[in-house]
Amino acid sequence: MNKLIEQMLIVGGSRGIGLAVAEHYHTKVENLICVSRTRSPFGNWIEADVAINADLDRVCAAFENRSLDALLYLGGIWEKNAFTADYDFANSSDDEIDRVIAVNLIAPIKFVKRLIPALERSPNPKVIFIGSLSGLDHQASREVANSASKFGLRGAAQALAIELRQTAIGFTVINPGNIATPEVLNDIASETFPSQIPIPLSDLIAVIDCSLSLSADSYLPEVNLAQTKTG
Ligand SMILES: NC(=O)c1ccc[n+]([C@@H]2O[C@H](COP(=O)([O-])OP(=O)(O)OC[C@H]3O[C@@H](n4cnc5c(N)ncnc54)[C@H](OP(=O)(O)O)[C@@H]3O)[C@@H](O)[C@H]2O)c1
Repeated sequence: MNKLIEQMLIVGGSRGIGLAVAEHYHTKVENLICVSRTRSPFGNWIEADVAINADLDRVCAAFENRSLDALLYLGGIWEKNAFTADYDFANSSDDEIDRVIAVNLIAPIKFVKRLIPALERSPNPKVIFIGSLSGLDHQASREVANSASKFGLRGAAQALAIELRQTAIGFTVINPGNIATPEVLNDIASETFPSQIPIPLSDLIAVIDCSLSLSADSYLPEVNLAQTKTG
């Protein structure tokens, strides 16, 4: 990985994808900060609910007068019974819709806004958002708020790259299929999900490593990471 990546912030470092990525980087970067509501075992953990503005302010205050080389927004949520036959848009509460969009889409935008000065202090600032294949044109899944949030994330990254061109921050959205997190593996084993081979976490980490290994003169705008064995 690029030696210029020393200061890293991972949102969603307590479970799933973010936890695996935090485990991968915690010995490789000088300073890793992880943000989530429940404790992350890696790096310096800041407890925060990213749907609350005051929590965002508190997390970002940790970067006042400091630089940030990599913001990895890897957390997220989805609707009740998402990705199963029991998902029911008509009965999805307004609160649920608000919260999915707040955590998956609005929070990453607000993080970037608050962290511009810290990212600008880095010689090679990179931002990575976790999207989904269901955020691609004509590949949406039935979960309306989740799909909308993932589509929106791609628009946000493209707009940020234009608006913040002078800062040379690289904005990457990674759109994966099912990743082999413990939850996904359980869902396959319990036949909640159809039989399939999910994407190894190490493959997703390889994509993140690749993105972070680029010089300050280029970035990967978007990467789609698909399964070969969808079942
Ligand atoms: N797993 C997959 O196969 C897959 C595939 C494509 C895309 N993705 C995307 O990847 C992201 C993470 O998925 P995952 O499978 O790793 O999920 P996960 O295992 O449920 O982990 C979600 C992470 O997000 C954090 N989080 C959720 N709500 C939060 C809040 N309000 N404030 C702060 N942190 C919050 C959680 O921490 P706390 O609960 O401790 O707060 C946790 O660390 C999601 O956006 C998902 O759409 C996942």
